[in-house]
Amino acid sequence: MNWLRSIILPAEGSQYARQVDNLFMFIVLISAFFFLLIAGLLAYFIWRYRRRRPDEVTPDISHNFKLEVVWSVIPLILVTVIFFWGFHSYMNATVPPGESLEIQVTGKKWLWQFEYPDGMRTINEIHVPVGKPVKLIMSSEDVIHSFYVPSFRIKMDVLPNRYTQVWFLPEAEGEHTLFCAEYCGRGHSDMLGKIFVDSAEKFRQWQELGDERTRTMPLAELGALLYESRGCASCHSLDGSRREGPSFKGIFGQQQKMSDGSSVLADENYLRESILQPQAKILAGYEGIMPTFQGVLRDREISALVEFIKAQK
Ligand code: CUA
Repeated sequence: MNWLRSIILPAEGSQYARQVDNLFMFIVLISAFFFLLIAGLLAYFIWRYRRRRPDEVTPDISHNFKLEVVWSVIPLILVTVIFFWGFHSYMNATVPPGESLEIQVTGKKWLWQFEYPDGMRTINEIHVPVGKPVKLIMSSEDVIHSFYVPSFRIKMDVLPNRYTQVWFLPEAEGEHTLFCAEYCGRGHSDMLGKIFVDSAEKFRQWQELGDERTRTMPLAELGALLYESRGCASCHSLDGSRREGPSFKGIFGQQQKMSDGSSVLADENYLRESILQPQAKILAGYEGIMPTFQGVLRDREISALVEFIKAQK
């Protein structure tokens, strides 16, 4: 039945995904079997007991005890099997193993922040080692978001003022997409992320040095990539239109009016400060809602973003 699975379900990226799919396929196959049985018998009876002569009358049909017991007991057994099977994988889904890698997740309009036990922080992407259970402890800074990774078959609400959790065991190296599955405002559909499952060796390298692809990229190109992948794009436009934050278009080298009435030249140091300490200087007419990127972006990445913003004339 693997061919049917691969047609109707997304790829399986975790151990739990396979459990969910096994049960799902069991229910699909039972349903298909009984659909064919019932629809087939219906069609057969229509033909078999059709009215042949005008004087034919319907005989008095009473109940059949044996038949009724059979069609009650068989479904009862089937739904009981489905219940315990589902309950078993539900328990498995809700209780993470003790030796999990724990990652803190914060949902925020409109990006995902992650923090590793060693203090490393990332935005909109995490790397995890293959074959090791990962537990996510999640909360939101504003509205309700929902952490949804289809290929892991996990989806959990991310709430303000409360922790929720999910866990997964990635079984093969690869790349998985993370969605926000709870409508949370204009940037909802931008709340995308990537989960990279790496070999133990590659994971260690990433922890030490970061992504090898981005390590060698020219600054402006890296800046453009970070603008999309680190969530800048959801609040800062490039075409001059106003969003939750000011547009990047034409700000570099201009005097900017701050909410305290002062005026500041938007140079490299101003941009750097605004990335690391967004509340230090707030542009007039805007709310100070941007999160800090201190500890999230490496030095080279900050320079890359500054270069990228400079280029937006
Ligand atoms: Cu966050 Cu939708």
